[in-house]
Amino acid sequence: MFKRKYPNTRLRRLRKNSNLIDLISETNISSNDLIQPIFIKENFKGTEEINSMPGILRLGLDQALIEVENILNAGVNSIAVFPIIDNDKKDSVGSEAIKQGNFISSSIKKIKDRFPEIVLIADVALDPYTDHGHDGILEDNKVINDETIDVLVNQALLLADAGADMIAPSDMMDGRIGAIRKALEKENFKDTILLSYAAKYNSKFYGPFRDAVNSAANLGKSSKSSYQMDVRNKNEAIQEVAMDINEGADIIMIKPALAYLDVIHVIKETFKIPTFAYQVSGEFSMLKNAIDQKWLDNDVMLESLLSIKRAGADAILSYAAKDISKEINNK
Ligand code: PBG
Repeated sequence: MFKRKYPNTRLRRLRKNSNLIDLISETNISSNDLIQPIFIKENFKGTEEINSMPGILRLGLDQALIEVENILNAGVNSIAVFPIIDNDKKDSVGSEAIKQGNFISSSIKKIKDRFPEIVLIADVALDPYTDHGHDGILEDNKVINDETIDVLVNQALLLADAGADMIAPSDMMDGRIGAIRKALEKENFKDTILLSYAAKYNSKFYGPFRDAVNSAANLGKSSKSSYQMDVRNKNEAIQEVAMDINEGADIIMIKPALAYLDVIHVIKETFKIPTFAYQVSGEFSMLKNAIDQKWLDNDVMLESLLSIKRAGADAILSYAAKDISKEINNK
């Protein structure tokens, strides 16, 4: 690198006041970079608190429609929807996931009818629908890959048909992106975007989410380690992403975000394609709880999101999206 010597160079010159600091800032977050996940609960009206996620609610569809409007008014134009399914609809193969007119597909239709311009992301995975809490079909206590893909393909088609703009497979089966892309092309969903959770780690940071969608109890002590990535690996993430791009992913996602900034960075540098990151439930709850307790300043949330962008993410799914967007726009 260049020689930099004091006093010719005084880096503090550019830190003299906040206008200067703003002028040379390298990373910025705007509302356009944020995606708000929401939890919609079947056969339910009103709102319900989620113990492990301060300030985040399970919403009946009635409230979800109001909340979507609030999100749009806050300047966030993208949402990711997660269903909470009646326990008695869950079974070992997740059949409810592919039923015509099921709760999430009718919810998506209603949201897109009311707010056609919103970018709506729908997860593909069986865990909201299985009584064992796994993302796929179990045989001899193992999640079986290829049989699971057949179901995921039908789930993806149902969600595309309901009007989801982006289909986001979060299940980590091998080959599912290719299979889903092929089916979407064949069924004439040529513009449905595939956002692949390509590098999804077997992380303990998902704990509060599993609490939110009531899958924690079903999963019990069972682990997702046979399909989600080992937290110690980075090269493997490059392979996962390469495969998903080749199979037809338009956007790839790294998840979680804050503990995986190195992965976000190397993926963006290597592939230079649209790259999203998910500030997952555990990351959010840690920060939000500390903020609520006044152990940390409110700005740690923005700092955390900025770090994720600085690492290379183009957009971030965050439970704080709506609030952060309001903060940025009111500054
Ligand atoms: C399910 C899914 C999970 C998350 C998004 N989709 C949990 C899991 O894989 O167990 C986690 C999101 C979060 O923690 O905020 N396939």
